[in-house]
Amino acid sequence: MARIHLFVLFLSSLILFVNAQFEYFQMVQQWPLATCTGTPCLNPPSNKFTIHGLWPSNFSNAILVCKGSTFNSTNTAFLALEPLLNQYWPDLISKNNRGFWRYEWNKHGTCSESVFNQVQYFQTTLNIRTNPNYDLLAILKTARLIPTGSISHRYHVIEGAIRAAIGKKPGLRCNINKKTRNSQLHEIVLCFDKNGVTLIDCPFPRKCPTQFKWLLS
Ligand SMILES: *[C@@H]1O[C@H](CO)[C@@H](O)[C@H](O)[C@H]1NC(C)=O
Ligand SMILES: *[C@@H]1O[C@H](CO)[C@@H](O)[C@H](O)[C@H]1NC(C)=O
Repeated sequence: MARIHLFVLFLSSLILFVNAQFEYFQMVQQWPLATCTGTPCLNPPSNKFTIHGLWPSNFSNAILVCKGSTFNSTNTAFLALEPLLNQYWPDLISKNNRGFWRYEWNKHGTCSESVFNQVQYFQTTLNIRTNPNYDLLAILKTARLIPTGSISHRYHVIEGAIRAAIGKKPGLRCNINKKTRNSQLHEIVLCFDKNGVTLIDCPFPRKCPTQFKWLLS
């Protein structure tokens, strides 16, 4: 009886492992002011996109949540990444950067552990954020699209400017400003193949209305 029980446990852990297969990455960058109008932030919002996370995802539109190796903040190779992580991947809300990285790794990063260990996962994310070809603010500025707070931006114009620059379809996510009730640009997603390098079209439907604000702090 006990043996059968163990065997069933073994089978179900195999199934969990198979379920944790991911199909592509969502590289999610947030506009700090839009994050911080919903939740007060200890980190003063700057006018720069910061990393929210690199999310292993399914084409079925599921963002996967997994369990794997727990976050290790004493790994020396990881510690070497911290200066760049502090710059590009800050915890806006509670200023607890390591806590934010731990959360993102334990929830999302572990879903791609078949491809990237913890150090490689954070390095891959930094590589995308620091690649000048994917500098979202620079791309939008070149297209004369800037945050102002007052102008309404059209989804297809912002999406089109990024698509023209990088050759693939980005995903935009909006949230509602609790004070003004306006929709505002919250996050921009770039999608990558399982290798974390090759850009692909983001496969999910848009998560913004046709027009929205883009706040300036
Ligand atoms: C993700 O996709 C893989 C491969 O198609 C599949 O095995 C798995 O069940 C999917 N997981 C979820 C949560 O949709
Ligand atoms: C964390 O990484 C360091 C250096 O690679 C290693 O010595 C240590 O055992 C790891 N800690 C855990 C809890 O895995």
